[in-house]
Amino acid sequence: MKHIFLYGPSGSGKSTIGKQLASDLKLPFIDSDQVIEVNAGISIPEIVEAEGMPKVRDLETEALRQIVNGSESVIALGGGALLREENRALVEKNGKVILLKAELSTLMDRLDKDPNKRPLLAGDLKAKLTVYLEGRAEHYASFSLQIAVDEKSVDQISRQAQVLAGRHHLSAMGEYDVVVGSVFNVPNLQNPIIVTDENVAKHHLEKIQTLFNAKSVIVPAGEEHKNLETVSRLWKAFLENGLDRKSTVIALGGGVIGDMTGFAASTYMRGIDWIGIPTTLLSMVDASVGGKTGFDLPEGKNLIGSFYPPKLVIADPSLLLTLPERELRSGMAEVVKHGIISDPDLFAMCQQGMDWVKANLEEVVKRAMAVKIKVIEEDPYEKGIRAALNLGHTVGHAVELVSKFELRHGEAIAIGTAAEARYAARVGLASQGTVEAIESTFSKLGLPIQIPSEMPREKIIQAMRVDKKKNAKAIRFALPVEIGKVELVNVDDLESVLE
Ligand SMILES: NC(=O)c1ccc[n+]([C@@H]2O[C@H](COP(=O)([O-])OP(=O)(O)OC[C@H]3O[C@@H](n4cnc5c(N)ncnc54)[C@H](O)[C@@H]3O)[C@@H](O)[C@H]2O)c1
Repeated sequence: MKHIFLYGPSGSGKSTIGKQLASDLKLPFIDSDQVIEVNAGISIPEIVEAEGMPKVRDLETEALRQIVNGSESVIALGGGALLREENRALVEKNGKVILLKAELSTLMDRLDKDPNKRPLLAGDLKAKLTVYLEGRAEHYASFSLQIAVDEKSVDQISRQAQVLAGRHHLSAMGEYDVVVGSVFNVPNLQNPIIVTDENVAKHHLEKIQTLFNAKSVIVPAGEEHKNLETVSRLWKAFLENGLDRKSTVIALGGGVIGDMTGFAASTYMRGIDWIGIPTTLLSMVDASVGGKTGFDLPEGKNLIGSFYPPKLVIADPSLLLTLPERELRSGMAEVVKHGIISDPDLFAMCQQGMDWVKANLEEVVKRAMAVKIKVIEEDPYEKGIRAALNLGHTVGHAVELVSKFELRHGEAIAIGTAAEARYAARVGLASQGTVEAIESTFSKLGLPIQIPSEMPREKIIQAMRVDKKKNAKAIRFALPVEIGKVELVNVDDLESVLE
């Protein structure tokens, strides 16, 4: 894992945001100016007065070297700390830099109220600040991760920083970190074992196994193996490899591997730790977070399971490069769904089509995961708003089942979402424009939007009723109202949904 550095002009809120971000991520907070002052034994204005600005920059370089070698933290940097190439290279090698940018008026307001002396801004604040910002405009603009802070609350900026950094700490069911970025070694794991499937093993097992110095168990790939037989194989493999209650299981694979591994871990010796390393787009943005684990019965999907969150999730977008095209497209259905639920900007990204998505996978993964994380933090046990994640799934699961899994999960979800959106328009909940936007986005991504004409409607309705606990007469749907908003609605005339 890596540090998160907050950078930007004086008054942009680096310390205030940094403290909030550190508290949200359960990480220590460091103010690099304070490290300089502690090391020097005097304040920065005093150093400037005695030895000039170059001395401060020297001390800053020294402080940064010290900070990057310490434990992982959120760090507020001095406003010109990265003007030196050496400093910039050092922090970029050891973490992510997020630039906080603000309008002159916002900075003026804050600095006017700020009792701290800023040596570079002493005197006529407006004139000094204007020159200071002009001088650094190009430098500040050169950082790729930026947040405009004007008129946003500290909480909003912290959330945005978590999305940009690809890093979250969840307190939902259990406490765990979710990190988007290259897979890294987790220290002090006892007797770790990797569970993966034959396809993922071919491409990624060796590297990850070496990294974790772990044993491994490989099971057959595919939903048809997400059953008790495979789970039993996992329990036995854990026993044969001497796993005890302090051991950790690593799920390296798509949603099938994640669901079964999480379940096997939740039940082996009454529960041992597990880490998720999702390898499909669908499992990154959906299955890997939220703590739902389980397997299928011949009667239906996910009928047996437990709520048992992992201890850590590492989503490394580079693992997706080996994913077959159809699986990647299928995963995009859940990304579109997350855009419809609460992120119109993410939805707009999906409208750019597959080429854009492939060139911007990390961005897509970060934003889509953030939607799921926000929803499950609000409602971990699906008492209310988490049901919004079922958008497209009531029809989608049924269509998937009736197709005898000929359709990939995401393809079925695209069909389901489009059908549910059309129904939402028919009952006056959504506009025709919203339906068209949803349909055209799925089409651009190469996903289907119509229920196959040969598929018997009564079988779909029957499957909708059997799916999970939906035996009641009326079924609760999550229906799109507009892009960025869904509503939970009870529907008893299921035929009308499929019209
Ligand atoms: N727990 C949850 O909250 C949750 C949420 C959504 C879906 N799910 C479950 O997830 C499952 C679907 O997940 P999925 O779509 O990831 O399917 P999957 O796990 O079957 O993976 C799809 C295919 O891609 C292969 N594959 C995986 N990663 C690869 C890689 N990097 N390179 C090459 N091949 C790779 C797999 O071997 C498999 O053949 C379903 O069982 C569904 O019920 C669970």
